[in-house]
Amino acid sequence: MTKNQKPNGSSELKRVLIVGNGGRENSIAWVLSKNESIQQIYVCPGNGGTANFKKCHCLKPKSQDEKTIILECQRLKINLVIIGPEVPLANGLANKMREAGLTVFGPCKEGAQLEASKDWAKTLMIENDIPTANYWTTKSKDEALEILDRFQKPLVIKADGLAAGKGVIVCETIEQSKNAIKEVFSGKFGSAGNKVILEEKIEGPEVSIFALCDGEKLIVLPPAQDHKRLLEGDKGPNTGGMGAYAPAPLISQQDLQDLTELILIPTLKGLKRKKINYIGVIYAGLMLTASGPKVIEFNCRFGDPECQALMPLMGEEFATVIFSCARGELEKAPKLKFNNLCSACIVAASKGYPEKPQTGSKITINSDSNSSLQVFHAGTTIDQFDNIITSGGRVLSVVAQGESFDKAFKLAYDKLKDINYDGMHFRKDIGYQIRDIST
Ligand code: AMP
Ligand code: GLY
Repeated sequence: MTKNQKPNGSSELKRVLIVGNGGRENSIAWVLSKNESIQQIYVCPGNGGTANFKKCHCLKPKSQDEKTIILECQRLKINLVIIGPEVPLANGLANKMREAGLTVFGPCKEGAQLEASKDWAKTLMIENDIPTANYWTTKSKDEALEILDRFQKPLVIKADGLAAGKGVIVCETIEQSKNAIKEVFSGKFGSAGNKVILEEKIEGPEVSIFALCDGEKLIVLPPAQDHKRLLEGDKGPNTGGMGAYAPAPLISQQDLQDLTELILIPTLKGLKRKKINYIGVIYAGLMLTASGPKVIEFNCRFGDPECQALMPLMGEEFATVIFSCARGELEKAPKLKFNNLCSACIVAASKGYPEKPQTGSKITINSDSNSSLQVFHAGTTIDQFDNIITSGGRVLSVVAQGESFDKAFKLAYDKLKDINYDGMHFRKDIGYQIRDIST
């Protein structure tokens, strides 16, 4: 099957496999488990929280290579595969799965370049008049230093390829920009740093928008805001994300409609023009500057932890909508409904995250979750005595919903008081833009 053919799988959605082991995949499993017609949900490899939800299981084949996962999907008669993280997408797992006849939500390797190559994504933006910061691409340190010399302003230095969220250095001074250029060409980011983007520094609040795409059409989800820095006051190193909230009040319904027309539709059209049948999430990270919104990055998957904040806002038809996307038949999907609640997500991390997370601590969670409170697992595992143990940098996402953000954040922060492990760390000011953090 070529990358543009429709899948030939069953039209019934009974067995789903989710690839990944993070909080994002845990929250997707949770929302799918609410769908009555789904019988089994496998998360490969999953984590210590996967089996907390009905019908959900960890799937840990002996090897995690593509061929083995595809054989497992065939053995388990999987109707829908959802690929969570960017690395397998960029490596072409979706291509191989579609060639094997599986129905997949997640873009092909060609489409995943939106995230896997910043230069490729920038070119697509320029070709399609999508607003973004001015930039230069170079493979040479000397040329980069010359550009800085001519520009005479601090730059944002970005490794072209995937660097686990660490390949961007935002500089405050020209001196810092010089050092960052040297650093990025030092080999620190491996092959991701073979090509480097020098970007004009822009300013404004950040917001993320997401579209579910079936190759032709798209559905836009509520906007979200995440907190990338490790420490309160948006200080410290960049992380995968320490918390998020949705819907971001910064963006009105009309703004979202405008952003869809300005950014999401042209992106999907641009991909189509390149003969890429993009099935999956387009995630646009935006900066709302004084001269209008600009894209600072594209990702080819749900954000983590934005996904954990978003999933509790989805109606039960979410699974059917994703399945329709994967089949290239969004027109046949029921209308995706979102509830009117505010959703708050706080990430509890391990000591040493993001540089050197300390793992192996026993986790205690002293109270149950309920319909407006979820504890999604990320870096957790279960030991031989059934204890939950930390196994990664971001350990849990505590998510709550309420009629107001104040209520949602209070619920989530109260729940965190019931959770304990050695080295537990979380930001106390998630959502500071939209709530009173002194209470
Ligand atoms: P990224 O990994 O591309 O999302 O970048 C990480 C963070 O760097 C973003 O969330 C922004 O805060 C910041 N950033 C990226 N590009 C720019 C830019 N052109 N100007 C200012 N800040 C930026
Ligand atoms: N939270 C940012 C990301 O998923 O890339």
